[in-house]
Amino acid sequence: MVKIANRLRGLQQSTLGAMTVRCQELGALNLAQGRSQVPPPASLLAEGSRDFKELGHSYSQPEGLAVFREAVSDKVKRHSGLSVEPATQVLATVGATGALAATLTALLDAGDGVILFEPFYSYYLSALKMQNLRPEPVRLVGPDFAITEKPLRAAINGRTRAMIICSPNNPSGHRLTATELEIVSAVAEEHDLLVITDEVYEDIYFGPAPHLAAATVGNLEERTVTLGSLGKSFSIPGWRLGYVCGPELLISAIRIAADALVACAPAPLQELGARALSLGEDYYRDLRAMYDRKRRTLAEGFAAAGLSPNEPEGSYYLFVDCSRMGVTTGVEAAEILLENSLVGTVPGEAFYLAAPDRPYIRACFSVPDDVIAEAVSRLVSGV
Ligand SMILES: Cc1ncc(COP(=O)(O)O)c(C=O)c1O
Repeated sequence: MVKIANRLRGLQQSTLGAMTVRCQELGALNLAQGRSQVPPPASLLAEGSRDFKELGHSYSQPEGLAVFREAVSDKVKRHSGLSVEPATQVLATVGATGALAATLTALLDAGDGVILFEPFYSYYLSALKMQNLRPEPVRLVGPDFAITEKPLRAAINGRTRAMIICSPNNPSGHRLTATELEIVSAVAEEHDLLVITDEVYEDIYFGPAPHLAAATVGNLEERTVTLGSLGKSFSIPGWRLGYVCGPELLISAIRIAADALVACAPAPLQELGARALSLGEDYYRDLRAMYDRKRRTLAEGFAAAGLSPNEPEGSYYLFVDCSRMGVTTGVEAAEILLENSLVGTVPGEAFYLAAPDRPYIRACFSVPDDVIAEAVSRLVSGV
């Protein structure tokens, strides 16, 4: 009998995938998956369909097209002041997922420990398992889910080699502050750790303060790789276009791993992606206003149903404390919401290694306004 590799042990269909199937079976609204259901910029689609024949349809260089890397470098500089040399410090990747896989492959060895701040985006755990890396959890406490020094220091041991941070955060919506990043910087420097910062939601935040890129704080730049994605900012996750930026030495190693894993990111889409990255500030303002509206409406629905939604500072998820339902786990809460209100959400357990301290569920608001309105009406009448 052909054997399945040990690294796949314990990796099954994700909770998100399972909830999607249940939603289909029951005819429930799916607020579980983080799949964006809002349309991409109209100008990008129009140019894409007009010009697709003329684009390059072969491989690009493993590091990606120069036009794409230049557009990434310009955009991150414009939005957060992060300075990266397009020729040597930027790599086009197959989504941020591909960027993370290549980074872990290139910079860490089997058995190395990686700090994960709970709650964390669940793909991190799968990505670590695929490389036989050891997840080392640090529990963050709601409602603000801020990084503090003591628990971080307590989690570090002789095998810890890296940490993954995420801001704006999926699922908590928290944006890391300069103070938190100073802590990350000091601890990383002291233990000589690699810092992987996932900033795929950099353009989706609420409030006036611009995105704070981790690599611009303290001494983080020299030991930090920044993961980005066009999927969230331009509502094109299916294009599988992302990037990783960082110190030249690290990027040249990640380039080798990315080449070995997937050869290159989709070349014709890199050309179109470069145009998306050059959209003006009006585009981003409208994007944030749209998500702000959706987040408020959905939060009002959960609150009207007697639950306690958080107030996300960024990303497109609500992380809702369902204690008031009288349940102890997010699994129970998600089940009740599904059965009684026909609204599919993700149990908080999906974002933790051990049981969370409260019964959380995550609800995605990257869905059309009419879906949000219907979810609100079902929540109010059903819970
Ligand atoms: C925090 C976070 N990182 C990375 C990704 C994956 O990004 P991509 O689609 O570019 O691989 C997601 C997608 O939901 C995410 O929420």
